[in-house]
Amino acid sequence: MKRDFLSLDDLSAAEVSALLARAKILKAERAAGRRHPVLAGKSLAMVFEKASTRTRVSFEVGMFELGGHAVCLDREGSQIGRGEPIADTARVLGRYCHGIVVRTFAHSRAEDLARAAPVPVINGLTDRCHPCQVLADLMTVNEVFGDLSGLRFAWIGDGNNMAVSWICAAGLLGLDLILACPPGYRPPADAIAAARATGRGRIEVTGDPARAAAGAHVLSTDVWASMGQEDEATARAAAFAGFAVTSELFARADPSAVVLHCLPAHRGEEITAEVLDSDRAVVWQQAENRLHVHKALLELLLG
Ligand code: CP
Ligand code: NVA
Repeated sequence: MKRDFLSLDDLSAAEVSALLARAKILKAERAAGRRHPVLAGKSLAMVFEKASTRTRVSFEVGMFELGGHAVCLDREGSQIGRGEPIADTARVLGRYCHGIVVRTFAHSRAEDLARAAPVPVINGLTDRCHPCQVLADLMTVNEVFGDLSGLRFAWIGDGNNMAVSWICAAGLLGLDLILACPPGYRPPADAIAAARATGRGRIEVTGDPARAAAGAHVLSTDVWASMGQEDEATARAAAFAGFAVTSELFARADPSAVVLHCLPAHRGEEITAEVLDSDRAVVWQQAENRLHVHKALLELLLG
């Protein structure tokens, strides 16, 4: 029975812990120059209907380092752009490849692809969520603090796909999460309800960034206009005034606090250059960890 990874809660809490532990081992082994060609002879198709730097390169390099191969398709260069149904694309790719990564707009499109695909499908970002990124974020927090428990997580900005995956993580792993979002840009109510229904963790949504930052150990933010929302950028910049991660806001956090940003970042918008380029921002480590968690995920689903 194939397994997809479309949302963080497609894994159990124990599986997330095991995956993060495995990613840590793979990171150390890589640093020592050791390779694990456990996916030799296997191929991964990557369907990217939106731009990507980190997700695309880390999956491609990850497959290479595991002894496999990755092939990337975008809309324009494939028949997807000429209207071939995503389900037909999935059926065909599943005949060549052992797994598919998809980055697309509507989450339902990734679900349609997964339903039709005979092989595991991994969500490389949809409008709804970005679970691979939050795996890397959790790994980074573990590296910094040694543990996820007892930490206060703050999300500052848009209640977007990244916020939804953090909410999902809070319900799955029992995190203490507070999100500060302007009115009209709060995370989807059903995501919050689903996470609260697990009975684990604590999720609060506020309109006050200072309240969210107070005592936080991890401050996360993301762009104010996500891919596909470029036309809304001006209206969003106005709505998000006061929601930038600045040194003043960061000063309210716990003295041990770190800043996460999935990248790409817009210095001077959602985060100041001073914060992003400070040693409290662990964003390069966070970006690197995409590679290690993707390798652990590929081993789990395709191995
Ligand atoms: N954070 C992230 O997913 O980056 P890319 O858009 O470059 O893949
Ligand atoms: N929220 C952003 C994340 C980019 C990695 C977007 O969807 O564009």
